[in-house]
Amino acid sequence: MTKISYEEILSIQRRVNIVDIIRNYVPLTQKGKNFFGICPFHDDHNPSMSISPERQIYRCFVCGASGNVFNFVMEYEKISYYEAIKVVANTIGINVEIDNINKQNVIKSPLYSIYDISCKIYQNNLNTPFGKKAREYLKERNINDEIIKEFKIGLSTINDEVIDILNKKNFSEMDILKSGLCIKSNNNLYDIYKNRIMFPLSDLEGNIVGFSGRIYDNSNENKYINTKETDIFKKGELLYNYHIAKKEVRKEKQIIVVEGFMDVIRLSTIGIKNVVATMGTAITKVQANLIRKLSSNIILMFDGDSAGDKATLSFLSLFTNSDANIKIVRLEDNLDPDEYIMKKGKDRLLEHINKPINEVSYKIDKLKTGINFNDSEDVSKYVNLVLKELENIEDDILRNIELKKLSDLTGLDIQTLNSNMSIKRKDINIIDKIKTDNIKMDKYDKASKYIIFNMIKNNKIILYYFNNLSYLPFDIDRKLANEIVLFYKKYNSFNINDFVTYLEDKKDLIDLVLKIDSMDFKVEDDYSIIDSYFKTIREYINKKEITNLTNELKKEINVNKRKEIAQKIVEIKMKESS
Ligand code: UTP
Ligand code: MN
Repeated sequence: MTKISYEEILSIQRRVNIVDIIRNYVPLTQKGKNFFGICPFHDDHNPSMSISPERQIYRCFVCGASGNVFNFVMEYEKISYYEAIKVVANTIGINVEIDNINKQNVIKSPLYSIYDISCKIYQNNLNTPFGKKAREYLKERNINDEIIKEFKIGLSTINDEVIDILNKKNFSEMDILKSGLCIKSNNNLYDIYKNRIMFPLSDLEGNIVGFSGRIYDNSNENKYINTKETDIFKKGELLYNYHIAKKEVRKEKQIIVVEGFMDVIRLSTIGIKNVVATMGTAITKVQANLIRKLSSNIILMFDGDSAGDKATLSFLSLFTNSDANIKIVRLEDNLDPDEYIMKKGKDRLLEHINKPINEVSYKIDKLKTGINFNDSEDVSKYVNLVLKELENIEDDILRNIELKKLSDLTGLDIQTLNSNMSIKRKDINIIDKIKTDNIKMDKYDKASKYIIFNMIKNNKIILYYFNNLSYLPFDIDRKLANEIVLFYKKYNSFNINDFVTYLEDKKDLIDLVLKIDSMDFKVEDDYSIIDSYFKTIREYINKKEITNLTNELKKEINVNKRKEIAQKIVEIKMKESS
């Protein structure tokens, strides 16, 4: 395994010019010292990405995407940080050999091997005489050997063979239990998957991190059983097929979201592979961001039943005020995409995908539910709800089309409808946006950012922070401050470009440090002002502690313990006022 060091990465970075590299992807124009281009990471219309040749950094004023040349290539090409280094190095004729599976500093959890081995066992079982019935089931569902292989579909047996094999391979009982593939009872381990068709679930990089097992013999048990959540498997933070879809999405320039993994599998058989599945649960913010990061063109194709409608609406609500362009497919007869393809054929499904409904029409249509159009109060209610939806549409033409439809439906003239609407324009002014970003900060957030700002701009403050406070209450700010301190201690100096390179693919920290770097604060040389910000942070920490203790006090019934807690609260308050 070849490891590339921070120094080697820096030396590559110093030999390329970020402007030349980004130019290969996005046209740039020069204004003053900097270059500007349309940001490829959100649906941008004005050039809002600026690139500083001096600092070798890019940053979008609208979506906040930022970083150095490697981060840009990584985000644009949807490849790993190390692959991005390879790509950049190649442009200057350097051939870097990096084992990009083994990221630096990452000790792989034994769970990965446990799932890999189990997956192979399951795959093998499907080809044994025991697997005959399961093979027949899959055949009946039109899942051929090629798909079975592609999605690594397998079968669990009725004895506890996986446990035996893992034991023989010397995995500790603790790790085997942690994997969630079995449970312990009466001092024995038992497989939780008995006679189920096994679908491996992968993380964003494609490592297997769990399974979903399906019944296939009409038993009354739960249709699917999923592996429990572990350190490496959080159901709400991954999407089925993400690692495969991410490459396809770039080609297709859109992403299709479905509910079930059988839908993903079926769609792939008709050549549609830019698909991810939410796996039935309500979509989380993390998943929403993952989807948006892959593409701003999103097609929702949830099950055709009313649950699918509910899921669609809740998905849309996560994307209010987003720049995403979401289209919706609703399938007839309550069918899910898998059933639809099987019953109505591939071509009819493709028609749907090629002619999806827009978000507004869909929402307006849903508002009709329960409205009696012969009842004027109902109609008035409906009109007001629709107008509220239309107020949010920035596109005049689209809004007018919908207004016309509403007028046709209700008989109300367009002028009346128009005068009942207050159109909200989103601010397009970049400067305004940056200002509002700053205004939103409360006192404590501001103090925290202010301290980091000064650490970046005046390196003496780094150790001053470390010696006098060394703690920030907000997780991500604290992480960033810790990294700054570590960097400074290691290299005895600090500059933002090298620090960004040092952060590698820690995008959240990179975006934050570059955002703070561009904030409109004063560079302080008066330590007493820095001290006052430290004081504000301490005040926040104390406030939180007092809240915690007060809550404890409310629950505590033991008199002595109550006294102790009350005493602690008094101490904190006294310390604060001194
Ligand atoms: P569906 O019930 O729509 O499954 O649940 P499906 O995709 O149509 O599956 P088939 O066609 O019956 O085999 C959608 C998703 O919800 C999760 C699964 O991830 C499934 O893909 N689910 C469903 C569970 O986790 N447990 C269940 O019992 C059911
Ligand atoms: Mn189905």
